[in-house]
Amino acid sequence: MKFFVDTADIDAIRELHALGMLDGVTTNPSLILKSGRNILEVTKEICETVDGPVSAEVIALSAEDMIAEGRKLAEIADNIAVKVPLTWDGLKACKVLSGEGKMVNVTLCFSANQAILAAKAGATFISPFVGRLDDINLDGLQLISDIRQIYDNYGYETQILAASIRSANHMSECAKIGADVCTAPPAVIHAMANHVLTDKGLDAFVADAQKAGIKIV
Ligand code: E4P
Repeated sequence: MKFFVDTADIDAIRELHALGMLDGVTTNPSLILKSGRNILEVTKEICETVDGPVSAEVIALSAEDMIAEGRKLAEIADNIAVKVPLTWDGLKACKVLSGEGKMVNVTLCFSANQAILAAKAGATFISPFVGRLDDINLDGLQLISDIRQIYDNYGYETQILAASIRSANHMSECAKIGADVCTAPPAVIHAMANHVLTDKGLDAFVADAQKAGIKIV
């Protein structure tokens, strides 16, 4: 499973990239707002930092305007994936932009039917939002599983990019289901390293090393 980080925080991106863990980045208007940076500038910097796809989201609502914005975003770098919302106009924009050879990430997906339409429109990525479904007492992971089954049934090449990931558990569950990519905030990726038994075991080893007077360097 590929790892994308869901942030526009360039320092967090650099840290994960240095560890060789990062396969791409996703951003959205809320994350750009949080970064306090200009969208074109920060997106360019992110594209120069990572080799993989960097999703940058359009803000227009009509297909025509989304296509114009998508073309402008795609000029930033070759690794831009234009992010469009899963609306009828977004699907039209997806069809045109993907026909021009641009990567397209169709976002705000909350149903299997929406995911079928995105694949038919030539999306490179479909972004089902796991956490936001869980927030309203629906089953976000079940949606990932349903889309996996449907895409496999028909050999759709659109990659399932599990989004709105809120916990380390979401990451491993998506990996078990067979999501192609998970995009998560930096804190969730860090949390994947944590285990209470690791902490407990390490405390005991450190205490014993002190008692034994072990010194290595
Ligand atoms: C996906 O690309 C979105 O940017 C993101 O995963 C949304 O996550 P949230 O529901 O935690 O805001």
